[in-house]
Amino acid sequence: METINVNVDFTLPFINKNELENKYELSYKHLLALKHKTGKGNDFLGWVDLPDTIDHDEIKKIEHVAADIRKKIEILVIVGIGGSYLGARAVIDMLYHNFNHLLPNRSRPIILYAGQNMGEDYLFQLLEILNEYEYAIAVISKSGTTTEPAIAFRLLKHHIENKYGKEEARKRIIAITDASKGILLNLAIKEGYERFVIPDDVGGRYSVLTPVGLFPIAVAGGNIHELIKGAQHMKHQIFKIHANENPAIQYASIRNLLYEKGKKIEIMVSYTPRMHFFMEWWKQLYGESEGKEGKGIFPASVDFTTDLHSLGQYIQEGERILFETVLNVTHPTNHLAIPHEPDNSDQLNYISYKRISYVNDMARLGTLLAHLDGGVPNIIIDIPTINENYIGQLIYFFEIACGISGYLLNVNPFDQPGVEAYKKNMFALMGKPGMEEESQRIKERIEKLFND
Ligand code: PA5
Repeated sequence: METINVNVDFTLPFINKNELENKYELSYKHLLALKHKTGKGNDFLGWVDLPDTIDHDEIKKIEHVAADIRKKIEILVIVGIGGSYLGARAVIDMLYHNFNHLLPNRSRPIILYAGQNMGEDYLFQLLEILNEYEYAIAVISKSGTTTEPAIAFRLLKHHIENKYGKEEARKRIIAITDASKGILLNLAIKEGYERFVIPDDVGGRYSVLTPVGLFPIAVAGGNIHELIKGAQHMKHQIFKIHANENPAIQYASIRNLLYEKGKKIEIMVSYTPRMHFFMEWWKQLYGESEGKEGKGIFPASVDFTTDLHSLGQYIQEGERILFETVLNVTHPTNHLAIPHEPDNSDQLNYISYKRISYVNDMARLGTLLAHLDGGVPNIIIDIPTINENYIGQLIYFFEIACGISGYLLNVNPFDQPGVEAYKKNMFALMGKPGMEEESQRIKERIEKLFND
């Protein structure tokens, strides 16, 4: 089986060999800390073994429930935010036809998302659309108390019960949450929804290979066995390969060294629009894992060649605080060549019969050269093609490298204390029961903020 390849050659002019060797050694120790669960946040390391320990009965149940629900729906609405939706969205977008929603005889349901924003128009228009289609809901929340999905679910629950009646609605709602606590769990038990459990020791952003990702991906027609197999393959590679050639150690070490040299922003680059949400997933994984205690690389992303016409100028000549990690899919799924034009009126005949991917490749190589000349180090991740197996490899690779990266910064990569700050203020402003005193204080501060 082929493996995704991490090429760090284009960062080497920016770092020194000795410091790299030292960093590899350190990263290797952190890899072992993940393996033996001896580092910070070690009660949230269930995901490390997940590819090998996934319960086969659980997989069967996921596939069975997914197959059943697929028979009666045109749309699946996934309700969740952050780690409770980005992984599924990343994988589904990569596997889907770019225009699935317009395919006349599509075999895969349309997947829509709710609870990942509080846009009133977004939710209103979603409900409008759902009046017209057969649908079901997968509501996903580990804590079972996150406000955005909870509000979206309340709206959708009303809608689906009005549309189908309580009994049929019950059969169209699947809840994915904690095994023993949370409001969503209580609601799911009370209403009798089909349920899947998110393991205690797996945090949201590391949960794609639990029912959080696997159930929606299965409904979307993805091969979850291959996804897990890919992750398994990567796990075995990472835990057996020597530090200098170990992709996770290489990636974590190099990005940490570049950070120490003032490269504070990592831009993830994709040349295929199918990977847009994979980069969103990656941004959450790294941003929430590393950004704490005044430290951490800021994870950004761009879609090339599109963004070469908007952000390309900055990357080429702006502040020299950037490095890039390029996701290079070497074989597109489809084949499309540029036709020949006898009168060459658009002057493109010099590339007649060339594939679109050839042009994309030349853009990629030209950009690599230009950005290196501009002082932007590049890490290249070669992905043979987009399928479940390689996606599984990528997911596991980035997760492990993220754990190592957090340890290199000496932070706990598995908590997210900073996310609470806005929530506390928001609840206080909305007058949540029990927050009366806080509410007054926060309102005064907001007033002062706008009036000073
Ligand atoms: O990675 C995380 O822990 C977070 O992004 C959560 O996934 C996100 O906040 C949603 O939380 P929950 O699943 O509890 O609704």
